[in-house]
Amino acid sequence: MKKRLFINGEWIDAASYIPLLSPYNEQFIAEIPEASIEHVDQAIEAAYRARTTMAKMPAHQRANILERLSRLLETRADEAARMIAMEAAKPITTAKGEVARTIQTYKFAAEEAKRIHGETLPLDAAPGGENRMAYTVREPLGVIGAITPFNFPMNLVAHKVGPAIAAGNTVVLKPALQTPLSSFFLAELLQEAGLPAGALNIVTGRGSVVGERIVTDDRVKMITFTGSPAVGMGIRNKAGLKRVTLELGSNSAVIVDQGVQLDKLIPRCVTGAFSYQGQVCISLQRIYVHENVYEEFVSKFVEATQKLKIGDPLDPETEISALISPGDVKRTLSWIEEARQHGAEIATGGIAEGNIVYPTVILEADPTMKVSCQEVFAPIVLINKVRSVEEAIELVNDSRYGLQAGIYTDNVHTALEAAERLHVGGVMINDIPTFRVDHMPYGGVKESGLGREGVKYAVEEMTELKLVVFNRN
Ligand code: SIN
Repeated sequence: MKKRLFINGEWIDAASYIPLLSPYNEQFIAEIPEASIEHVDQAIEAAYRARTTMAKMPAHQRANILERLSRLLETRADEAARMIAMEAAKPITTAKGEVARTIQTYKFAAEEAKRIHGETLPLDAAPGGENRMAYTVREPLGVIGAITPFNFPMNLVAHKVGPAIAAGNTVVLKPALQTPLSSFFLAELLQEAGLPAGALNIVTGRGSVVGERIVTDDRVKMITFTGSPAVGMGIRNKAGLKRVTLELGSNSAVIVDQGVQLDKLIPRCVTGAFSYQGQVCISLQRIYVHENVYEEFVSKFVEATQKLKIGDPLDPETEISALISPGDVKRTLSWIEEARQHGAEIATGGIAEGNIVYPTVILEADPTMKVSCQEVFAPIVLINKVRSVEEAIELVNDSRYGLQAGIYTDNVHTALEAAERLHVGGVMINDIPTFRVDHMPYGGVKESGLGREGVKYAVEEMTELKLVVFNRN
């Protein structure tokens, strides 16, 4: 299967192609076009020209396109889930969950398109402001450059494309090279849903060619990126005066206080740690457990981890499959080895078979170990004993990252204290940090990023606030 670039509403051949292989069994899936600088330039030009059409399109039409898109996706949900499972090695049940969320995200975007508005301002609150009427409007920015990761190839694209269209922008999308099929599929559906030519363009290829051009071209007014902090910082430094939102990584943590019902929360923590092999920005990586319940927590957690079903992503029973690349397997094993050599205990896992790393639980790892202070993006979770919630909060905050954190406690004062003191973008009380529904604000502090996603919040980022003052004097 040979895929093509999507530029100005047309499918275009490239001069060279990159084979797309299954991360699970390395079987050939498709040939992916490698865009040249000229292709990227054409894509940006098409988006630039289409920006006027999109900016003038009434809100109800933009909403209809997004509504139709979500209905089309609903009718082809099984096909979409299979595509994600194949290209990303995401277990099919989890992939189905991603498709269901994507449908929701586009529905939220359709709804949001109808409520983008400004406000009226009482200018006479200041001396000199009398007899003036003032209001604000939110205008689309124009061309949005979207650079998306492999881990949610449909829903994280939806979090950029949905709000961009809702707000009347156009998009040049560079999906991750490992998972572009979901994006090409989206282009097909959006064409069918009636999106004008040029409003969405998809260019696949190397970051150094495609990404670099999108980030530095003056016609592009905003970059929305999800991926690693290193690439995110590079984008920030090169983007000049463009608006930039960055959704970067984290080493998310949960605190487990004494007195909570462990049997209820352990399955949830196991899901948070190992869902999609831990390749989720808010994957549960660090667990701090009160010393009074530590032994019981560890033994039940390890037991539940060992029951996870490992295998083919297309098998509905599978809960854990392959990591996205052999390089990630190698890196993960070396980080586990570093922890072992520095005295941490590997309670289960720690080995790999092909591209599958077994779900790994590490006890009492030193905070300076890579498995602790860096984002592992692999099926590894650390469990550490703490004397108090106070101590745990210090440890959670002792991180370069700050995306989301969780705390399980029966004490409302402790919960509210933690909500105040945890330095993150979102605090989940009595839940894992891995909680997300698609209309909530989502984003981090410190090296976890800049700005917020979640449809309404992304629309705010993707629009310019304009003030109009009418002098009646
Ligand atoms: C992410 O990995 O950044 C997104 C997580 C999610 O949407 O659940």
